[in-house]
Amino acid sequence: MKITHLVLSSLLGFCLSSSLGVAGQSDFSISDLKKELKNEFTNSYPEQQKPTGKIKSFELVAAENNIGIIPPYKTLVWAYNGMVPGPVIRIKLGDTLQLKLINNLPQATTIHWHGIRVPNAMDGVPGVTQAPVQSGDSFTYKFTPKDAGTFWFHPHVNAAEQIERGLHGVLIVEDPDEPEYSQEFVWVLDDWLLTKDWQVSANFVTRHDLAHDGRWGNVLTINGRYQPIFQVKAGERIRIRMINVANGRVFSPAFARLMPYVIAVDGMLTEAPFPLQEFYVAPGNRVDLDIIIPKSLAGKKLLVQNLYGRQKSALAFLQVAAEEAVETPVFDSPRAIQFPRWADATKLPIEHEYVLNAKRGGVYGISWTIDDKIWPENAAYELTSGQFYSLRFTNKSSRLHPMHLHGQFFKVIAKNGKAVEERYWRDTVLIGPKQSIDIGIIPLDKGLWANHCHILEHAEAGMMTTIKVK
Ligand code: C2O
Ligand code: CU
Repeated sequence: MKITHLVLSSLLGFCLSSSLGVAGQSDFSISDLKKELKNEFTNSYPEQQKPTGKIKSFELVAAENNIGIIPPYKTLVWAYNGMVPGPVIRIKLGDTLQLKLINNLPQATTIHWHGIRVPNAMDGVPGVTQAPVQSGDSFTYKFTPKDAGTFWFHPHVNAAEQIERGLHGVLIVEDPDEPEYSQEFVWVLDDWLLTKDWQVSANFVTRHDLAHDGRWGNVLTINGRYQPIFQVKAGERIRIRMINVANGRVFSPAFARLMPYVIAVDGMLTEAPFPLQEFYVAPGNRVDLDIIIPKSLAGKKLLVQNLYGRQKSALAFLQVAAEEAVETPVFDSPRAIQFPRWADATKLPIEHEYVLNAKRGGVYGISWTIDDKIWPENAAYELTSGQFYSLRFTNKSSRLHPMHLHGQFFKVIAKNGKAVEERYWRDTVLIGPKQSIDIGIIPLDKGLWANHCHILEHAEAGMMTTIKVK
């Protein structure tokens, strides 16, 4: 085990004696603390999921298509089964998903299952776990998800172009005892850069994108529609599963006259529901909301806005029916069965600090780096499964970096070196300009996993590395 922040830790005033062999008395040792953190973690989510034996088979054809984002205009997109967003695939926890990807695109592709703990070989990352599926070829993915929740899938080849053109879909894994909401919505948040004739601008990974927070567009959509209106009834209790599939844009959703509660982040149920307030849904992130439509709002049209950035913009509307209110379903919001507080986690030394920055050079003229390296120059950072680690992301740049770790969940334990309490798991965390974020993680799933910025232009220009879980 490497201890890189020895000085910092001793400044914090605890003793590292037992693991370092230094003389002195200790209140606790690093290994004891790690054991405690692990005990707290036990049963938070399963190491394995027992397949029920039920196989759910799907076919997904990736090809060009024309769709109406801004009717009556048609936009040429790349789509799964002709749709943008792609199909919402629903299976039950314990089901085995078997999905045949047929590539009819003009270039190679793969599918990465974002947030899902899959066997390493199913993770869809060229150069790490799988060869690209060539144009005209097919590949069958097969796995049994270990966690229920809101997940998504997308290519991991030339992603800055392929996802932007419309290749993404949602995978919902249902828990055997999901509560009965009046209605459930899946909202795929996207941001398009469209030309005057309503086509996807074909300049990808530009110098401008690289010098900024990736590609930010001019049309925001939900489920491929501009400012859609969703029908609800007064008294209803609804669940909204939100997914940000944009290349670079961060959303901060706000609901006029409603009080949504966050019940899940990045697929996983939170320790307890909490009110949605200035919650950043960065590229890759998901958030599940539990919302009651008050009976007093019958007949009202409610605005949903994006409050991130300089201008507020309308995202959607909830049209509450004028008719009489329905009975509001009563149940406790779903929550995590077990969740570790890890209150003492920040007393441990940081095991590895990832330095995020840019430099000149590389294929695009500007490169984004992790520890000064451009993917695939970096060596994998090795972790042992079942052990606690704290890792730090230090953003030396003044741009945004939503860092995404494949195959694992983690918990934010500190910001700018100060302990914070996020009571939920994540697979993607936004690191702000000049900010540092510390995460606690107990890796369970073995293999070689990508660790990259989910601003797709930054990733394309080098901001990716791997962890190797043994
Ligand atoms: Cu959704 Cu490697 O990412
Ligand atoms: Cu980035």
